[in-house]
Amino acid sequence: MASKQNSSQMILVVTIVVAIVLIAIIWPLSMMGKGSASSGSGDDAESRIMPVARVEMQKVVVKSDGKPRTGEAVYNAVCTACHAAGVAGAPKTGDKAAWAPRIATGAAALLASVTNGKNAMPPRGGGADLTDAELKAAVDYLTGKAK
Ligand code: HEC
Repeated sequence: MASKQNSSQMILVVTIVVAIVLIAIIWPLSMMGKGSASSGSGDDAESRIMPVARVEMQKVVVKSDGKPRTGEAVYNAVCTACHAAGVAGAPKTGDKAAWAPRIATGAAALLASVTNGKNAMPPRGGGADLTDAELKAAVDYLTGKAK
């Protein structure tokens, strides 16, 4: 009973966080659209979203002049949001019991889950601009904490 209540509270928190992020992205876009006669084509919308999305990411992920970020840096910027506290059913960082059956499926399977997304975890763990190598380093870092 208590744990059921807990997880619905967590889902509520995640929903609110997602809503805030969406508002932060959509609000400046609606401001931008006011000046120009918008054609409303899909390509146009994408090109307007891209720079905003990139700025949003760079606020969180510190990219050091094109060098790949370490697994630890990626974890601290992106993955910690869910895995530190075990939000929405995420296996908690360092929780050996929670990680053991997942680690047993193999590094390739885990990387595939993160790349494609799994249940509450978005594709690339939400870090849309992460390279494959950075993603793999983050998975290694995260699973390494539970070995
Ligand atoms: C929005 C929350 C969220 C974020 C951010 C997130 N994860 Fe997850 N992650 C989850 C959840 C929830 C699961 C459990 C999915 C399931 O098995 O139902 C999970 C599971 C995993 C698994 C196990 C997959 C499997 O096949 O069992 C790995 C590995 C993982 N995450 C790595 C990462 C990495 C690396 C990052 C950062 C790049 C990250 N996660 C960011 C929520 C998140």
